[in-house]
Amino acid sequence: MDKYIIKGGARLVGDVEISGAKNAALALLATTLMTDEKVVIDNLPDVKDINIVIDSIAEIGAKVDRRDRNTVAVQADDIYDVVVNNEYVKKIRTSYYLLGALLGRYKYAEVTLPGGCNIGSRPIDQHIKGFKALGAKVKIEHGMISADAREHGLVGNNVYFDVVSVGATISVMLAATLAEGKTRIENAAKEPQVVDVANMLNTMGANIKGAGTDVIRISGVKKLHKTEYSVIPDPIEAATFMMAAVVTKGNILVKNVIPKHLEAVTAKILETGSIVEEFDDAIRVIGGGKLETTHIKTLPYPGFPTDMQPQFTVALCLAGGTSTVTESLFESRFKYVDELTKMGADIRVEGNTAIIRGVDKLSGAEVNALDLRAGAALVLAGIVADGFTTVEDVYFIQRGYERFPEKLRKLGATIELVTSEKEEQKFRLRVG
Ligand code: UD1
Repeated sequence: MDKYIIKGGARLVGDVEISGAKNAALALLATTLMTDEKVVIDNLPDVKDINIVIDSIAEIGAKVDRRDRNTVAVQADDIYDVVVNNEYVKKIRTSYYLLGALLGRYKYAEVTLPGGCNIGSRPIDQHIKGFKALGAKVKIEHGMISADAREHGLVGNNVYFDVVSVGATISVMLAATLAEGKTRIENAAKEPQVVDVANMLNTMGANIKGAGTDVIRISGVKKLHKTEYSVIPDPIEAATFMMAAVVTKGNILVKNVIPKHLEAVTAKILETGSIVEEFDDAIRVIGGGKLETTHIKTLPYPGFPTDMQPQFTVALCLAGGTSTVTESLFESRFKYVDELTKMGADIRVEGNTAIIRGVDKLSGAEVNALDLRAGAALVLAGIVADGFTTVEDVYFIQRGYERFPEKLRKLGATIELVTSEKEEQKFRLRVG
């Protein structure tokens, strides 16, 4: 029954502190399994996906000390299972990071096939190609994927990816770090989380060069050691709050960000006519006036992020004319369009392009989150819409946004997590 209920119409003003990047932290947690020494990670976002991975690594023997909401110390000196098939791992997409990390360290691992957000078919052929190139035998059986290099060990090699994949780049980089000899990953993903994982591995004694470019060179090492590491700020959370300023014609200072990671979104926000001011570690977005139309195509980093496509679409729903959004990574990423239509949006999807005709206003409705980023987009739509919006299945949003309603309330939004009919009625009564 958990849902967000929103009374729309607020202009969001103030400042918001961005949490650590969920997508980087998921990989960093897997990386902690690659040494028997203690690894401390801070600036960890306190979100469901992260807590699931923490539970999952504890389940195979890692000693986990959650020092506070955003800091964890992991010591993997007593791992007793490299077959990860627990109730937790079934719920996440990034089981392949556990596969890469455990394969690197133990030369054998088996994990449940990835689940995660339902935004299209999510093949893992590139991960498999990479593990095989390093000498592992890979099998998929009974819903599990195993990688086995016990006979001849993992040996560095050239790996050329046919598609740019964040997940495959990281999982193969993890395994190659503890392989014998040199690996060269070509057509690597350049996303900030790839760089973050390489940086943490290098502080642990790895030898990785070129992360952030499309060629990553790894000289395998025998052992990794302890480290203390801070997760980069979450660019998608940051960009979501930037869009909150755009759609509500607000004025938000988004703090604890790396502006460079936000360049594609910033460029597109400027095209809509909003103002963006950049500081060393903060960005201010000031919305106002009628939004201008623009055209977006999602691409791997540094292109426009697919994870910001739904949130940006909400803004274009309110622009003065026709805009297009082309999704080039995940074929089913427009399911939320039906939900926005319930709120009065005028969107037609043709193939992988959404054609959006701006309307004067959105109106509150009962909608379903559907997936993590679509859910965040529908919350933004609810905040700008007339009347009440309820967003069901908020579990999806809680996977990746830390204290989302709290942060939005601090900026002036009227939003509440309700867990019963009674709570919902009380909220409606209170806010009128
Ligand atoms: C990561 C992010 C996700 C984001 C996506 C693209 C995490 C936990 N998730 O997902 O939020 O939307 O990057 O920025 O970090 N592909 C293949 N074969 C493979 C792997 C991928 O064809 O073996 C394709 C996918 O179908 C997709 C494209 O490559 O079209 C990019 O996917 P990928 O970068 O791997 O996404 P994830 O790492 O799963």
